[in-house]
Amino acid sequence: MKVIGISGSPRKAGNTETAVRLALEEVEKQGIDTEFISLSGMKIAPCRACMRCKTQPKCAIEDDFQPIFEKIVEAEGFIVGSPVYFGSATPETMALLDRLGYVARNNGNLLRRKVGGPIAVARRAGQNFTYAQLMFFYILNEMIVVGSTYWNIAFGREKGEMTCDAEGVETMRNFGQNVAWVLKKLY
Ligand SMILES: Cc1cc2nc3c(=O)[nH]c(=O)nc-3n(C[C@H](O)[C@H](O)[C@H](O)COP(=O)(O)O)c2cc1C
Repeated sequence: MKVIGISGSPRKAGNTETAVRLALEEVEKQGIDTEFISLSGMKIAPCRACMRCKTQPKCAIEDDFQPIFEKIVEAEGFIVGSPVYFGSATPETMALLDRLGYVARNNGNLLRRKVGGPIAVARRAGQNFTYAQLMFFYILNEMIVVGSTYWNIAFGREKGEMTCDAEGVETMRNFGQNVAWVLKKLY
């Protein structure tokens, strides 16, 4: 069993990465494999709506997308975190999700029943909107979204600041524990 955790921040070792890693740490503690992937520095172009994924189980654009896509499809769990940029998820996050969702849905709903959920991190506001934005992706792809003590949001501006948000840290940890719990019940 494996859970893939992705940070859609262009900033390495930032608050989103920290939040996703906190959740993954708890999954690991339950004996489930995890892999963290940062989209920082990766080349993932936006979907160009060519519809090639209707005739082949891969995206026609040749960049860093395909290996990530394959890892997510192979895993039982999937967590995606995004910083809030002007009230929304980052372009990096949405480029990945748009292509992931389209290839998956055009090839037999490949994300169906994977366990996980979104995480949103911001300095001050916009986490709820971004969390909901990412949640649309999960629900439409027939995934099993797991809750926590609060919505999976955290506060922080400079790198590492989210660790000062005690409730945010606790929410991420409990989220990871619940993902592991659900996975163990299902598999
Ligand atoms: C272009 C840009 C837009 C941002 N927009 C918001 C925003 O709408 N609301 C907010 O509270 N913080 C906003 N921030 C702050 C980031 O969400 C915050 O610094 C967050 O911790 C970054 O996550 P990271 O460390 O994972 O990159 C913005 C930052 C940038 C660079």
